Parts: sequence; C-alpha cells; structure tokens
Amino acid sequence: MAFSPENRGRARTIVARYPQSRSAILPLAHLAQDQDGWLSDEAMQEIAELTGVTAAQVQGTCSFYTMFKRDPVGKYLVSVCTNVTCLVLGGPELLEEMRHRYDADPDVTVEEVECLAACDGAPCMQVNYDYHELLTPDAAAEVVDEYKSGKRRARTVSGTAVVGGGRA
Ligand code: FES
Repeated sequence: MAFSPENRGRARTIVARYPQSRSAILPLAHLAQDQDGWLSDEAMQEIAELTGVTAAQVQGTCSFYTMFKRDPVGKYLVSVCTNVTCLVLGGPELLEEMRHRYDADPDVTVEEVECLAACDGAPCMQVNYDYHELLTPDAAAEVVDEYKSGKRRARTVSGTAVVGGGRA
C-alpha cells in the first residue's frame, strides 16, 4: 500500500465527494505527492484501485501535468524557465549553471520548465515553487545556497507547508 493509514482514510473521504470516483484521480495524486514528494507506481496503482480505473489511466492523466514528479526529487526543487522571454534573457545559462553546480547534490533537483508566468521578472526560477526573478547564474546559485544553509526557509518540495512564499 502506498498511502499511509491516515492518508488512506483521507483518500476514501476524497473519493466519496465525487459522483464518479474517477474524478478523484487528481486530488488523490496530489495527496500521494504531498505524502512522498513524488508519484510512485505503487501510489498510482492504489489510486487506480480507489477510483475504479487502471493504473495506466492514472498514469495517463497524471503525466499530462508537470507538477507531478515521476521520480524522487531532492529537498530543493529548482525549476528554471527557458521559455521565450527567459530564453532571450539568460534562462538557458541559468539552467546550465544550476545543472553544473548541483548535478551531484542529492538535496537539489534541477528541472527545466515552461513559462512560470513571471515573464516581467525574466530570467526566473522557482525553488520549491517560490519565485526568484531577474537572476544571473551567480545570483541563482546564491539563492539555492541560502536555502541549503538555512538562510531561506522553503516550502516542502510538494508545495505544501508554506513558510513565506509567493513571488519575491
Ligand atoms: S518565459 Fe520565463 S516566466 Fe515566462
């Protein structure tokens, strides 16, 4: 079983809210990711059983949304935008620097993402879904290092347990 006993109870309560059980797939995927920080095969299997669909259908639904992580992620999820505005203002260089600095760091997962809807602050990135804008590669590394050293407090990697937050 993927869900903890407590979360299994929550999951059943969520399913009961919907006229059709399958409508609970996304809320249950959020619950699983809140619990583990990512969406495991076991979690998708359990969601399938709870909602009366196949695990492939759960995977098909969840794979559409980039916020669902299919592999374990580090304590700090660094999401670097390389979409159009960030692309021309240094997003790729930011991404390259983040990958270079943190590739071997198990606490940090670096991902390339589409537009974060903060184009006026390009180039930008998020760390555990908190925004950091108008960055240079060195400034971005400084931000990440401040999280790692405890100078900045982060949300959990699943985006819950907010401490501070919002665009900065
Ligand atoms: S293009 Fe990067 S935030 Fe929009």
